[in-house]
Amino acid sequence: MEFFEAIERRRSIRAYRKKKIEEEKIKKLLEVANSAPSAGNLQAYQIFLVKDEDKKKKLVGVSYDQEFIALASVVLVFCAAPQTSGQKYGGRGQNLYSIQDATISCAYVHLAAVALGLGSVFVGAFDEEKVKRILGIPPNLRPIVILPVGYPDKSPEKTPRLSLKDLVKEI
Ligand SMILES: Cc1cc2nc3c(=O)[nH]c(=O)nc-3n(C[C@H](O)[C@H](O)[C@H](O)COP(=O)(O)O)c2cc1C
Repeated sequence: MEFFEAIERRRSIRAYRKKKIEEEKIKKLLEVANSAPSAGNLQAYQIFLVKDEDKKKKLVGVSYDQEFIALASVVLVFCAAPQTSGQKYGGRGQNLYSIQDATISCAYVHLAAVALGLGSVFVGAFDEEKVKRILGIPPNLRPIVILPVGYPDKSPEKTPRLSLKDLVKEI
């Protein structure tokens, strides 16, 4: 799929078919994640790939009952590694770059999913500590985004955006 077509077709997808995602597609998504830029090329983040049905169901309970999480074929949990970036960049690395690194990687996957005929949604509303406990995420990592991914079961309408006039201030 052409890049701008993927941008145009991208939606937050919260309903998935039962069909499992093929392993080659999962690998492709992970390679795309790994290709994202990061501050100082430190890649101050880690990704947890959740396939286990029981763990997916548990994630629903700590994400304000966002039931669609359990229905996705796989769930990716992007975690910032604040110390990794902090060792080189101090507070800015800890509090900003590591979160940016993880978020950009997730955004890459969110878009690549479209090109592979898949759908996903950024989930930011969850209890970080409880997510860590469920997945056994070590203390040095901070879950930033939960990204359920699956074959879309719905084609949501395009959501509105600001006008470029309101978004961009030309100096
Ligand atoms: C940082 C962030 C956090 C989000 N958290 C949630 C969430 O917890 N649950 C959810 O259903 N959607 C969540 N979304 C998706 C947004 O609601 C969605 O991107 C927005 O409404 C625009 O719709 P679109 O992505 O289809 O264009 C989040 C998106 C971002 C970028």
